[in-house]
Amino acid sequence: MASLSDQLLELFTSFSSRLEAAADEQAVRKAYADFGGPQGQVRLKQRDLLKAAPNAEKKAIGQATNEILQKIEAAFAARLGATVEQAARGDLERTVDVTLPGRARPLGHLHPITIARREIEEIFAQLGFTVAVGPQVESDFHNFEALAMPKDHPARDMQDTFYVADVDDVVLRTHTSPVQIRTMLAQPPPVRIIAPGTVYRRDDDATHSPMFNQVEGLCVDEGITFADLKGVLMHFAQRFFGAGITARLRPSFFPFTEPSAEIDFTCTFCRGSGCRTCKQTGWIEIGGSGMVDPEVFRHVGYDSEKYSGFAFGWGIDRMAMLKYGIDNINQFFDGDVRFSRMFRS
Ligand code: FA5
Repeated sequence: MASLSDQLLELFTSFSSRLEAAADEQAVRKAYADFGGPQGQVRLKQRDLLKAAPNAEKKAIGQATNEILQKIEAAFAARLGATVEQAARGDLERTVDVTLPGRARPLGHLHPITIARREIEEIFAQLGFTVAVGPQVESDFHNFEALAMPKDHPARDMQDTFYVADVDDVVLRTHTSPVQIRTMLAQPPPVRIIAPGTVYRRDDDATHSPMFNQVEGLCVDEGITFADLKGVLMHFAQRFFGAGITARLRPSFFPFTEPSAEIDFTCTFCRGSGCRTCKQTGWIEIGGSGMVDPEVFRHVGYDSEKYSGFAFGWGIDRMAMLKYGIDNINQFFDGDVRFSRMFRS
């Protein structure tokens, strides 16, 4: 018969193998219960041996079996800790794969009209123009009256107006020209401003929107001439659209400028050779301009004998359509971010 220590070593070896093979926490606990638990093999052996042994040997048997039980206990505790930790790590890896690339947050994007407006502002800033602003809900005086369009003036019909309900003489501004008035009322000459902003008219088709954007330009000083206007516009056309694009002025009429001219830019689609967009003319109308009418100077208290000035106003949306080759103005206002993403910022 094997010695006591051999028997106990064999039991410990069997326990170690079971522990080694245990795949999960449950198997680890079962292995411990089978060997070190109250009904485990080591306890049963201890009980049997103690029962059969003479009193003189009982102490030694008790010590030897307790030593093995302690070793079993220690091995069990170490293995249980490792198994629980491994299981937790496994859970974590299953739910969070820390090696995956992070989810990029989509960046916001400037609207193409904002891009165009900023570029216009930059070009004029380099010519010494500052940016002026005015309200979108405007008085009849600033929007019409002071611009030499009294109540019965037929030119008012050219800008079909949204009136603010129940408020006398208050309109959604139909153009940025009222900012001319506000600026001149607020300061003496010289004046060199551009005024970009949103305006409103009862218009709606592929090239007209009920809400659109204009930029106004106003330059007042001693000795300002029509040639200054043309020089500024030609410089601007080349900076904004690139070489080969120029501006021309066509006789026109606006009540607040005299003489007045339509501004055309070389058609950017055909670069002047004639196409469907420019109706074979090679030119596209972009806005109005002219020399400030003395009647306007009278309204703001400027001396028209001493000062002269030019003004212009054009559609920023139209400029952006030309620059980016867009044939329907409504695309700007559909709110589809896939459209905005196509433009550099
Ligand atoms: C004016 O609004 C004048 N205030 C311009 C001006 C300023 C003349 C200073 C003289 C001195 P007009 O109504 O033509 O003019 O509009 C100017 C430009 O705004 C048009 O050429 C066009 O480019 C743009 N525009 C007009 N209506 C619309 C619309 N419904 N949708 C988009 N763009 C428009």
